[in-house]
Amino acid sequence: MQPETTTAISGIQIRPGRRIPGLDEDVRRGLLQPPRSLPPKYFYDARGSELFDRICDTPEYYPTRTEAALLREHSGEIVMQTRPDEIIELGSGTSGKTRHLFNACEDHNHVCSYAPFDVCAPMLQESATLISNDYQWLQVTPLVGDYSAGLDNLPAGKGSRLFVFLGGTIGNFNRDEARSFIREIKSTMQPGEHLLMGVDRIKDTEVLNAAYNDAHGVTAEFNLNVLNVINRELNANFDPSRFRHRAGFNTGARQMEMHLESTCDQSISIEAIDATLDMSEGERILTEISCKYEYDEFSSLLQDCELELLNHYEPPNRYYSLFLARST
Ligand code: SAH
Ligand code: TRP
Repeated sequence: MQPETTTAISGIQIRPGRRIPGLDEDVRRGLLQPPRSLPPKYFYDARGSELFDRICDTPEYYPTRTEAALLREHSGEIVMQTRPDEIIELGSGTSGKTRHLFNACEDHNHVCSYAPFDVCAPMLQESATLISNDYQWLQVTPLVGDYSAGLDNLPAGKGSRLFVFLGGTIGNFNRDEARSFIREIKSTMQPGEHLLMGVDRIKDTEVLNAAYNDAHGVTAEFNLNVLNVINRELNANFDPSRFRHRAGFNTGARQMEMHLESTCDQSISIEAIDATLDMSEGERILTEISCKYEYDEFSSLLQDCELELLNHYEPPNRYYSLFLARST
């Protein structure tokens, strides 16, 4: 018999707060004419989430390690300062680094609940089950949904919430969208509630480029996997071996840009939308940007969104920032 503690936790589906395009519409709009692009959320099917998790373990991908070290060091202070009744995490993935906050709760005898919110249901279910096994006092309520459809339909908080958004994922919005998204978070917050955000910083181009071009090709596999998602969901016939992963820092735009580049002239059929995509050798699809910030730019952004900056944590090399803010 299975011990009760391994019972899988299934997620609550969050209804979209506004209508958003489906994959068919995103592909039609984004892929069929240049400049070609795809929204990054489609990376995260079960395989994509697994690959992202492996990216986090590559020696080149410093953000995860750096953010984990900051959380290890400062979670005690963060928990004591915010004393949340609920921790709600956007784009929670494996919730790996969030464990530092739960450990700090244990150290300080602070009890709260946890609501991880992610678009990848299988990953969310698996992580939520592991977390609730490891922290038996923690009530875990996984929320499955797409935060680009708004945050209006999140369940009402149980008391005072700490919103958490880690991994530098805010960088995957362009600068204007990031502002709108933080405004949106702020508008769902009650006065006195808190927001903890992990933000990747501008640094040496070589360090940035290496982080998105790991030597073992895990990032390349992750990027290429989005083609398998389109093949499966829209009955398309992309051959991933006819594309290559390209990633580089755009100094002017202060963002990493990830592309898939066609290695030959080719024609792809996308049956479900009755379309043919012709790509020539060297032509690219933009699959993700990852904006990098200076301290000043991000702290002004928080202020513009009427969030009061309480604390800022960074390592000695200033590779990464954790911002703790309060809604006024
Ligand atoms: N917070 C984790 C994971 C970061 S990767 C970490 O720091 O390691 C980005 C995460 O956001 C993935 O788990 C992905 O599934 C999720 N995500 C991406 N777009 C999303 C969207 N539109 N709505 C909800 N979750 C999303
Ligand atoms: N949120 C991650 C980041 O911006 C996502 C990511 C890491 C990513 N490596 C990637 C996305 C490679 C596409 C390709 O750092």
